[in-house]
Amino acid sequence: MTDRISFHLDATDGKARTGKIQTTRGAIRTPAFMPVGTAATVKGMMPESVRATGADILLGNTYHLMLRPTAERIARLGGLHGFMNWDGPILTDSGGFQVMSLGALRKLDEDGVTFKSHIDGSKHRLTPERSMEIQALLGSDIVMCFDECPALPADRDRIATSMELSMRWAKRSKTAFGDRPGHALFGIQQGGLEQDLRAQSADALRDIGFDGYAIGGLAVGEGQAAMFDCLDYAPDQLPVDRPRYLMGVGKPDDIVGAVARGVDMMDCVLPSRSGRTGQAFTRRGVVNIRNARHADDPRPLDAECACPACSSYSRAYLHHVSRSKEMIAGMLLTWHNLHYYQDLMAGMRGAIAAGTFDAWQAVFHARRAEGDV
Ligand code: GUN
Ligand code: ZN
Repeated sequence: MTDRISFHLDATDGKARTGKIQTTRGAIRTPAFMPVGTAATVKGMMPESVRATGADILLGNTYHLMLRPTAERIARLGGLHGFMNWDGPILTDSGGFQVMSLGALRKLDEDGVTFKSHIDGSKHRLTPERSMEIQALLGSDIVMCFDECPALPADRDRIATSMELSMRWAKRSKTAFGDRPGHALFGIQQGGLEQDLRAQSADALRDIGFDGYAIGGLAVGEGQAAMFDCLDYAPDQLPVDRPRYLMGVGKPDDIVGAVARGVDMMDCVLPSRSGRTGQAFTRRGVVNIRNARHADDPRPLDAECACPACSSYSRAYLHHVSRSKEMIAGMLLTWHNLHYYQDLMAGMRGAIAAGTFDAWQAVFHARRAEGDV
C-alpha cells in the first residue's frame, strides 16, 4: 500500500513496455486493458466475474453518472466503488468526449460546455472544475482532464483551436484537482493527425505536470493506418516514466499495434458491446455466433480459452441462446470477450518481459489469418 500512485517499468522490447501502476486499491499490470463500466456496471457481468477475466481496473463515465444517478447521490452512498461493488482501481473519463458525441445537443464556449441530456433532454453544464468535482465525488482513482476533441477529418485550424482550448482546460483541471494523495490526474494529448500539434500538446501537458498522459482524439473515424501513423510518434512525445493511455481503442489488432508503439493502457466498449450482439473475438478472428454454421456445432467457441462460455458450453448452445436473445447469451459472450482481451494483454506482457514480442506478434497475426474453421 502506498498513498501515491506510482509507475514502474519492468521491461521493454522495442518500443513496447511492461510494468505496473501501483494504486491504493491494487496494482495495474501494464499493458492493461480496462473494461468499460459506463453506468456503474460492466453490462451483463458481476464485478467478481470481471475480476476473474483478469481485469485490474475498470473505466467509468462522468457524463453518464452525473445524469443518472448523479455524482452527489453516489457520494452520499459512499462512492462508486462501494456502489457498484468493485474494490479495485477505477479510472473515470471526464465527460468532454461523451458530450462531443451528442453533436447538435451541445454548445461549447471558453469556460465549458452546455448540453442536453440524452435521457430526458434536461440542460446540464460541464467545465473543467465541475468535471474534477464530479470525479472526486465518485471517488475515482485515476481522474481524466476535461478536454474537447473534434471528429476526424477536421481541418487543421479547427484541430489547433480545439487542442489549445483543451490545454487551457488541462491547466484548469490540474488547479481544480489540487493535491489528492492516492488519486492520480492524467492529462490528455490532442492534435488530431498533425505531428507538430501533437508535440505542442505534449509539451503543454508536460509543463503542467501529470501523473499519466493519455492520447486522445484517435479512433474517431481516421482508420487503423492513419491511427498507427500517429502512434508512430505520439507516445514518444510523452514522458517515458509515466503511463501512456490510448483512449477508446480498440479491436484486438489495434491494441497489439498500439502496445508495439509504446502504449501502456487502453479501454474500449468493443468486447462487452459485441458480446451482446453475438460477436466473439477469438484467436482465429471474429466469430459471429448467430451464423447458421454454428447451429449443430458441439465444439467450444475457442478450444484454448478457459472462460466459462468455452469450458462449459457448445457453439450450438451459444448460437441458440444468442439467436433467442436470452440474457445468458450476452453474459457468456461478454465474459468470453473480456477473458480473450485479458489473455491477449497477459500474452503481450509475458512476451515483452521475455524479449520475444516480435515473435509473439507474428503468431498473433498468423493465427488470425488462418480464420475460424
Ligand atoms: N475517449 C476516446 N477518445 C477520447 C478523448 O479524446 N478524450 C476523452 N476525454 N475521452 C476519450
Ligand atoms: Zn472463452
